Amino acid sequence: MDLTSSQHNYLQNELLQNWWQICSLTNLSAGLLQALVLCYFLETNSKQYNLVDKNVIEIGAGTGLVSIVASLLGAFVTATDLPELLGNLRHNVLRNTKLKSKHQPCVKELSWGIDLEKNFPRSSCHFDYIMAADVVYHHPFLDELLLTFDHLCKNDTVILWAMKFRLEKENKFVDRFQTLFDLEMISNFPSLNITLYKAMRKDSMKASLPN
Ligand SMILES: C[S@@+](CC[C@H](N)C(=O)[O-])C[C@H]1O[C@@H](n2cnc3c(N)ncnc32)[C@H](O)[C@@H]1O
Repeated sequence: MDLTSSQHNYLQNELLQNWWQICSLTNLSAGLLQALVLCYFLETNSKQYNLVDKNVIEIGAGTGLVSIVASLLGAFVTATDLPELLGNLRHNVLRNTKLKSKHQPCVKELSWGIDLEKNFPRSSCHFDYIMAADVVYHHPFLDELLLTFDHLCKNDTVILWAMKFRLEKENKFVDRFQTLFDLEMISNFPSLNITLYKAMRKDSMKASLPN
């Protein structure tokens, strides 16, 4: 099923604009803007990055905006976050995708670095895309975050990752990320310090994570 023009209108005219308004009115800009940057990219590049029937996982989904847009664009979506966030995430995702999406999204716990093989076995989980917005900032789980990208990413998986540069820590994370993945900047908003990256696993022998 192709997206109908009304679904496109919904994306452009209602969902993204509502979120944009929330950002400007509540000053929640830093995080949500990164999600908006990724959503805008997905919608405006939907031919090159065709999500119809693709398997997408979002990590650190928060309010679920990226998962909702990926779902409205036709993907099988798994939206993930910490257990205490799942109620709100499930509510948002359901409310914005029910009877609008081709495939009903799934909402699932994924605490970075924890029980990855148990909950997302490498042998049976294959994601075409891993999406992440505003997951790199001052928190103590950057090692676990990198482990999670590493666990979920197959050779043909594309990572789309929006991030805002605030502190030196973020630059260091990008350096570490690049030991495992080839990184390409696909969109950049210097005035907001926000960059959208595409990444794929390095095709050489799998680099190992530092201990
Ligand atoms: C700044 S918010 C970004 C939310 C959303 N991606 C967005 O752009 O609006 C960071 C998200 O990462 C999640 N997060 C933080 N630490 C985590 C961890 N250790 N495991 C899983 N999710 C985590 C938070 O619960 C939160 O939803």
